[in-house]
Amino acid sequence: MANTATLKIEGKELQLPVIIGSEGEKAVDINKLRAETGYITFDDGFGNTGSCLSKITYIDGEVGVLRYRGYPIEQLAEKSNFIESALLVMNGELPTPAERSSFSQLLTANAPLREGLVRFIQSFPRDAHPMAVLSATLNALGAYYPHLASNNHQNDLEHFDEAAAIAISKVRTIAAHTYRVSKGLPFNYPNPKLGYCENFLHLMFSEPYSEYVPTPEVASALNLFLLLHADHEQNCSTSTVRMVASAGANLFASVSAGVNALWGPLHGGANMAVIEMLKAIHADGDDGTKFIAAAKSGKGDRLMGFGHRVYKNYDPRAKIIKTSFYKALASLGIKDDPLLNIAMKLEECALNDPYFVQRKLYPNVDFYSGLIMRALGIPENMFTVMFAIGRMPGWIAQWREVAANPKLKIYRPRQIYVGEPQRNYVPTNLRQG
Ligand code: ACO
Repeated sequence: MANTATLKIEGKELQLPVIIGSEGEKAVDINKLRAETGYITFDDGFGNTGSCLSKITYIDGEVGVLRYRGYPIEQLAEKSNFIESALLVMNGELPTPAERSSFSQLLTANAPLREGLVRFIQSFPRDAHPMAVLSATLNALGAYYPHLASNNHQNDLEHFDEAAAIAISKVRTIAAHTYRVSKGLPFNYPNPKLGYCENFLHLMFSEPYSEYVPTPEVASALNLFLLLHADHEQNCSTSTVRMVASAGANLFASVSAGVNALWGPLHGGANMAVIEMLKAIHADGDDGTKFIAAAKSGKGDRLMGFGHRVYKNYDPRAKIIKTSFYKALASLGIKDDPLLNIAMKLEECALNDPYFVQRKLYPNVDFYSGLIMRALGIPENMFTVMFAIGRMPGWIAQWREVAANPKLKIYRPRQIYVGEPQRNYVPTNLRQG
């Protein structure tokens, strides 16, 4: 493989170093391009740009591979759980029993919210979007824990475990409290005896007169959902976290920015769009046949939850979550749900229809995760919040990678200016129209 690439420009020849990743990914290093030629590269949307060197997550979308720190997602889904995988993603290695237990203690100790934060959440209107509340409250953590949010990377890294535990533990308490406010229900306090997922479901759904106890299948479906979302390399929210971190910002400010990026419908909203699509098909009296025909003709809407920007083969997360989804449904006794029937029809048609097969449009993780969230009783406007809870370890790991980089430079992309050339100011009385 070549060690350098040659660029010929304006009669000049420049040797650019070639970087090879540990899985053979190839990149041309253009760090010196501008200084030596005056040119920059143009890559609208960064589709061909490696923005960093990272050791966290590897994806090969062509063959449907996803690995956290080298471990295949299939093995982690079968043998690990969300918190253990979170530690792997954040720290680079599977935790020892002592590390696991000390982090669990930190999670338990940090599950409740300070009273001021509780009042902060209560102060939002009842119909506030939970992503707005989540982002604001995560950012506010920096005000409550200033020793963890000094905006001095070296200092913040010294308290990394505590900050990470606060973010991972409190994100679920904030999410559940936000939900309770929206319903006009009293808050539940975290139960230190419960595991991460069981505690979240208790915070969401327990009532003063009845403790919510999930079936093991439901707790395990939630656990898997979170684990499968723990990181996905340089997507929009992760790149946002890294961008903010590169300015020296603290962990809470950086992940709060990640939440805002995830809120965008092109990023975190696909699982919600799946349910909206199923509802629309149902309201139309269709069983999915008409909708598929319209999607194929290009005149109708696309089949939400099918296809993926990166995975051009089966989304490995979809395969894993599907089995868990059916187990959770069976344990909840859900059999004849009209939206579910439509979903299954869409899935069956798409998997056997040459249009979808030829274009490699398989169900993606969002197709099943929307259905799982619905079966668990999570309201649709909370779906993206659930995604954020799952993605928290990845954002934290990516923040740490940036903060710990001894050669860190603030991220500062360039642009090609295509606006007006220089012109002179026109006084108000001389302006036309
Ligand atoms: N339903 C019907 N047809 C589709 C779908 C779909 N969901 N997705 C792609 N196609 C068709 C396109 O019309 C196009 O057909 P053509 O070749 O006849 O013109 C062909 O498949 C390729 O489409 P592209 O837009 O080039 O595929 P791309 O890989 O760029 O798009 C995307 C990926 C945006 C995810 C797309 O599949 C889609 O819109 N899916 C539905 C939305 C969704 O589920 N998004 C969540 C995915 S998570 C993520 O990617 C961040």
